[in-house]
Amino acid sequence: MPNQPLDIPLEKIPRHVAIIMDGNGRWAISRGLPRLAGHKAGTENLRRVIRATVEFGIKYLTIYAFSTENWGRPPEEVQGLLHILEDVIDRELNELHGEGVQLRHIGRLEKLAPGLQEKVLHAMKLTKNNNRLILNIAWNYGGRDEIVQAIQRIIKDGVEPDKVTDDLVSQYMYTVGVPDPDLIIRTSGELRISNFLIWQAAYSEWYITPTYWPDFDKEEYRRALETFAQRDRRYGGVTEAVAHKTHG
Ligand code: FPP
Repeated sequence: MPNQPLDIPLEKIPRHVAIIMDGNGRWAISRGLPRLAGHKAGTENLRRVIRATVEFGIKYLTIYAFSTENWGRPPEEVQGLLHILEDVIDRELNELHGEGVQLRHIGRLEKLAPGLQEKVLHAMKLTKNNNRLILNIAWNYGGRDEIVQAIQRIIKDGVEPDKVTDDLVSQYMYTVGVPDPDLIIRTSGELRISNFLIWQAAYSEWYITPTYWPDFDKEEYRRALETFAQRDRRYGGVTEAVAHKTHG
């Protein structure tokens, strides 16, 4: 039943979903294909997941596409991924723009070729007034790198130590103005954060599935959201029920 509506009360739909799209390589190898074929299948899947995100009424989606550590992969894989990024911008930008998707990049742009940097900046400029879905693409992104840069800028701005608060630090992150992710999905079963949104994920809920990213379909996305809707988010406090019991 692919077009079944979400069976979740509106207030339980996450505002912000973040995804670690893992398992492209293993998906390809398990089919006797080169790893890049897995990244291509993963990119096709990303198109479907973006559309499902809009349909489910989720406002912010952040995807981990290339980490600051991914430069250490074999050069042909790195080149292939850069080529995919360029190709996606060339082929999908107008359609995403037409669908009201705002594209943002998080991470360091400077290591990309100047022509590709320009394409990314153009995509962000073109879509900057769209508000149906804010899509953050983490490319050459590292969570520690983001925090280090924030500290450097806070010091450069001459902020007094006692003015450094949780809120102020958030203002110095790439995600300024974006609510922290409510739900982080990681495919392919690994149980780690891999330097992704380490500041912003302080109270995120996790959904980890053994499914490889290219096979993570709308039905499983729906299951992730339904699982999330049943979580009891306590932010270090206690549930209503426990609080009630404690106070008699
Ligand atoms: C992790 O799988 C996936 C990546 C490092 C790349 C993800 C990128 C895409 C799906 C392309 C998205 C493109 C754009 C333009 C946003 P892996 O290679 O680590 O898989 P493995 O753990 O099985 O080896």
